[in-house]
Amino acid sequence: MDRLEVFGANKLKGQIRISGSKNASLPILASTILSDKKIYLSNLPNVKDIETMIKLLKSIGLTFKLSKKRKSILIEKNKKIKTYAPYNLVKTMRAGILVLGPMLARFGKAKVSLPGGCSIGTRPVDIHLKSLAKLGVKYKIVDGYVHAFVKKKLKGTKIKFPKISVGATENLIIACSMAEGTSILTNCAIEPEIKDLVNFINAMGGKIRWIGKRTVRIYGVNKFNDVYYKVMSDRIEAGTYLILGAMSEGVLKIQGINPKIIKTEIDILKKIGAKIILSKDQIIISGSKKIKGINIKTAPYPGFPSDLQAQLMVLLCKAEKYSVIQEKIFENRFMHVSELNRMGAKIIIKKNKAIINGNTKFRGAELMATDLRASVSLIIAALTAKEKSIISRIYHLDRGYEKIEKKLRKIGAKIRRIS
Ligand code: UD1
Repeated sequence: MDRLEVFGANKLKGQIRISGSKNASLPILASTILSDKKIYLSNLPNVKDIETMIKLLKSIGLTFKLSKKRKSILIEKNKKIKTYAPYNLVKTMRAGILVLGPMLARFGKAKVSLPGGCSIGTRPVDIHLKSLAKLGVKYKIVDGYVHAFVKKKLKGTKIKFPKISVGATENLIIACSMAEGTSILTNCAIEPEIKDLVNFINAMGGKIRWIGKRTVRIYGVNKFNDVYYKVMSDRIEAGTYLILGAMSEGVLKIQGINPKIIKTEIDILKKIGAKIILSKDQIIISGSKKIKGINIKTAPYPGFPSDLQAQLMVLLCKAEKYSVIQEKIFENRFMHVSELNRMGAKIIIKKNKAIINGNTKFRGAELMATDLRASVSLIIAALTAKEKSIISRIYHLDRGYEKIEKKLRKIGAKIRRIS
């Protein structure tokens, strides 16, 4: 199993180009099941989750050409589709459940494996299922699979989500875009990736309009057209490298990201003391010797993302005083804490709050990655330690960070993969 060897305490400086967004590419790829026309997608990130979603599309019968660097795909024929998503392809990637909505919308039936638990929390899909039921879907769960069907077509309706959920909003937007009649979805998640999904479906002929901050109106259509679409950049990857920039003495230029979509993160980093210069699609950041402690809660967009909580925690370990992070999205997303404490951090967990004492000098250690974002937080900590660190179980990291060692080496980090 691959591991990462990291030697820290080097001055990091230079440029990092942000890849395409994983969390936008996944629902967009799932939504291609709706159409039988040609679809060309560019700016996909070359990461494991996208590879898994493409395998899933292949297993159900889509034919496509993937570019050599796996960053663009031409989906050519999309006629005989199996409406079955097996466990072995859905188990490592929860976004597999996103094929349920488009399968039901186009073919009226689906058998999709439940994604199962996950290390950051139980992550149920009840909101997806109950909302699809409002469109006329009947379902039962047998042996870990959702068996679902609809008589004739999905029927558009009004749905108010009981809780803000990224995945449920995506599944329903995709399903409603091919349902009969009009749907109005309220209390939607409004992450930029959801806006990107809507832009994609509209580009292939969908009729979706935002009519309120968290409300979307969808006229169902029967047919789509050929489409070329460029997926947005990854704001979580950008936020991760910004946090690294706020910890380093050198100047980092984060390129290919629109600063407007990460305004919350930028404001917080400025508050902590980072020096930031913004332009149209570039952010220049350098750290400050004095990092201020803060109190912060994770929240749905436009709040501070749970997906950057672990990375921010590493930065706050370096603050002059103490900080508090409250995790409001997932119930078990502090697994990086014990590893960070082994590296010298002084973090105490009380329910969903982490109390982070500052002035930490991280020491190198042998470490274990526990989930995607936790893995990268360990790398950030290891990059500030004088000693060597070895990080194992980095398959988590490969799910979502494209060429991370290469990007980090380019800015002066000493990091290598050992197989
Ligand atoms: C997506 C992101 C993930 C991010 C998360 C929150 C993708 C592929 N993944 O995950 O990186 O951390 O949003 O921003 O885009 N919930 C239910 N029932 C449901 C669905 C969700 O109770 O049917 C709960 C979840 O357990 C969680 C909360 O709602 O506590 C938010 O989850 P959700 O927004 O759905 O996250 P994902 O779509 O799984």
